[in-house]
Amino acid sequence: VISSRLYHENVIDHYNNPRNVGAFDKKDPNVGTGLVGAPACGDVMKLQIKVDEKTGEITDACFKTFGCGSAIASSSVATEWVKGKKMEEILTIKNTEIAKHLSLPPVKLHCSMLAEDAIKAAVKDYQSKRVNSSTSSDAAP
Ligand code: FES
Ligand code: FES
Repeated sequence: VISSRLYHENVIDHYNNPRNVGAFDKKDPNVGTGLVGAPACGDVMKLQIKVDEKTGEITDACFKTFGCGSAIASSSVATEWVKGKKMEEILTIKNTEIAKHLSLPPVKLHCSMLAEDAIKAAVKDYQSKRVNSSTSSDAAP
């Protein structure tokens, strides 16, 4: 458990009770997976979204993070924020908003950056899957 004098209560809350820890099936066509790493510290974050293909809305999200408390808290917040939003909307989530929400100190900004990158990577993965699945079904006899 991390010291409450150094961290904002939102960080401690999300670190001790992370929301939406888990994994979806990567092969599910409605799932987008973002896997990103921070070169500076070697921490790794996997964030997944489940998308309603008709509305483009994120119906569920989960993450697994091998990293510091701020990275875990950032991914937890990110999964909370993407749920119920449209894909275009979640692309506008900024790491600075996450950092502000958690009152992260400047040295921990890259931890929230990981969350922003992971959201973008998950959307990209989802979109590339849709493209591939439509081309392969076109090609099918
Ligand atoms: Fe959890 Fe705000 S304290 S998302
Ligand atoms: Fe690297 Fe937090 S110290 S993600």
